[in-house]
Amino acid sequence: MVGGDGAAAPGGYRAGMPEPVMSFDGFDLVPITEADLPRIVAWRSRPEVHEWYGGRPVTEDEIRRRHLESGEPVARCIVRLHGRPVGHLQFYEYLDEWKGAIGLGPSDTGVWGLDVYLGDPALHGRGIGTRLVRGVAERLAADHGAERVVIDPHVENLAAVQCYERAGFRRVRLLPAYERVRGAWRDAWLMEFGDDAAT
Ligand SMILES: CC(C)(COP(=O)(O)OP(=O)(O)OC[C@H]1O[C@@H](n2cnc3c(N)ncnc32)[C@H](O)[C@@H]1OP(=O)(O)O)[C@@H](O)C(=O)NCCC(=O)NCCS
Repeated sequence: MVGGDGAAAPGGYRAGMPEPVMSFDGFDLVPITEADLPRIVAWRSRPEVHEWYGGRPVTEDEIRRRHLESGEPVARCIVRLHGRPVGHLQFYEYLDEWKGAIGLGPSDTGVWGLDVYLGDPALHGRGIGTRLVRGVAERLAADHGAERVVIDPHVENLAAVQCYERAGFRRVRLLPAYERVRGAWRDAWLMEFGDDAAT
């Protein structure tokens, strides 16, 4: 049936939901729409999530502006695992003006980044993030022409650093005072995917 009232279909799919931009291993990455905003706000209200992603809860208006209206060349997606929405992942090719923050310059080409969270803390620590991040990095290299795939967890975010290492990322550079969270500057690791990432 085409159209419909937007009610949930088996597997959690809604009529009118966009096609996934990436699918593998039970995961579908589906572009965020207006209908996802309440779920995102609920996920980011969880301290276990906003402690490490954004630093504070967010409103629907903020998410609408940043995720739907910013016009930035960023693929912002809901992650579905076997149809169930489990989190958010965004990926992007670094624009020249973004590269300075991670210690790179315009001559560093083909650099892609990703940011991720799983919205329900009950899902943390079960290996989902490892499979997800590895699969996305592999597909950015295979299908999007990424020469380097990087990620930038806070140094104290031990679960994220461990997850990304398990997924095939290596720490390549300390990024001092990288992000300000509730008034305090936090260092981050620049991590790069692949066996030949510099150590
Ligand atoms: C970071 C995140 C995406 C990782 O996904 P995940 O499914 O929880 O990660 P995994 O279960 O695949 O791997 C986590 C690893 O960290 C380990 N770990 C968990 N807590 C840890 C801690 N406090 N110290 C050290 N290691 C820890 C786990 O044991 C696991 O390692 P193992 O597989 O060797 O046992 C998820 O936890 C999350 O969304 N966290 C909140 C938001 C966030 O931090 N986003 C990332 C911002 S960079």
